[in-house]
Amino acid sequence: MNKSGREVVLGVGAGIAAYKACDLLRRLQDEGYQVSVVPTPSSLNFVGSATWEALSGRSVYTQVWENVPGVTHIQLADKADFFLIAPATADLIARIAAGRADDLLTNLVLATTVPIMIVPAMHTSMWNDPATQTNVATLRQRGYIVMEPAVGRLTGADSGQGRFPETSTIIDEFSKMTGAKKDLVGKRVLISAGGTREPIDPVRFIGNRSSGKQGFALAQAALSRGAHVSLVAANCDMADIPGVSMYRVERADQMLTQLEKLFAASDLVIMSAAVADAKPKQISLEKIKKALFGSIELEANPDLIATLTKKRRDGQVIVGFAAETNDHMISAQKKLESKDLDLLYLNDVSGGAIFGSDSTTGSILDRNGAVIPVDEMSKDTLSHLLLDQALHKLG
Ligand code: CTP
Repeated sequence: MNKSGREVVLGVGAGIAAYKACDLLRRLQDEGYQVSVVPTPSSLNFVGSATWEALSGRSVYTQVWENVPGVTHIQLADKADFFLIAPATADLIARIAAGRADDLLTNLVLATTVPIMIVPAMHTSMWNDPATQTNVATLRQRGYIVMEPAVGRLTGADSGQGRFPETSTIIDEFSKMTGAKKDLVGKRVLISAGGTREPIDPVRFIGNRSSGKQGFALAQAALSRGAHVSLVAANCDMADIPGVSMYRVERADQMLTQLEKLFAASDLVIMSAAVADAKPKQISLEKIKKALFGSIELEANPDLIATLTKKRRDGQVIVGFAAETNDHMISAQKKLESKDLDLLYLNDVSGGAIFGSDSTTGSILDRNGAVIPVDEMSKDTLSHLLLDQALHKLG
């Protein structure tokens, strides 16, 4: 099976901290992981399947008796790259230690061979009980990562060790296990996002349907991996990303001016913006009457990325995007060569797909001829895959 390195099974046990696992799921998604949630049946008393399905965007099962033709316990075990079980109750830890398979999650744990991290959360006296401690020791001996619960206020009035750790602490530990590193520290990444607009008159413009979501996802991903990130955003509704140097522009010429200022200092440039290929020769100061539309004269905009690659220095990596509706591969290969790019992400946008969506489907083309198919995945995940590829080239 072709693994992405970013598929996670999030197992949820029947502890009150299950509600905190909702935030954990979101943060995992921000880190570029694709997450399938597998709650234990009793954990649904705390957080129901509808919440997990809505947050993960995937079907949620708790028993092997559901989705029988899909053989979920084998299919999910095969697909996953990592397991994270959070929160894990004393009972769930005992069942895993004993090798039981009495719900979907414990079946999966037996069926998988990938790394598993467990985040226990329970009352201090249950955590300290010799049975639990022996089970935890057994799991650690088998190679599972079992986090220490945090110390502090418990569900009731008392306090002690047993609290579910902070989400950021869990993510840090999990990143150590998955090998996700701050691998872009010291690198300057320049990203363009959105779609440029070329004014026709005070009311109208030539524009396109790009929302900028992919460019913002790329900026967020590069930031989380430690890069210094500049984002040149054209007509995007999203708020500024704290920690990213933001430059808001409207037209292609403004975008080019901004990119040229930042280009020389950048190690990696990702041009995800959709640039209007043409603009009116003259911007009318008054609203043009519809009878005169036929007389609007257009001229070509410069090709921004091609302008930049002509000035590239050694070691710079440049990534383009292509949105195609037909002859995808041929057209994308041509763009990769004619614009002198290192990588190109080819989006299939037939029927207006992708624009404004949180997910994407396409292929990553490498100038060395390699083509990596991208099955439907979130724009966050694609961002990390593209950064992984770009990083190989940055060396
Ligand atoms: N691009 C650019 N400047 C332009 C047009 C496109 O920098 N004037 C960049 C885009 O940001 C993208 C890549 O070139 O990274 C491909 O964009 P696309 O619109 O698919 O290609 P075009 O060259 O405009 O070709 P066409 O519209 O004819 O398919």
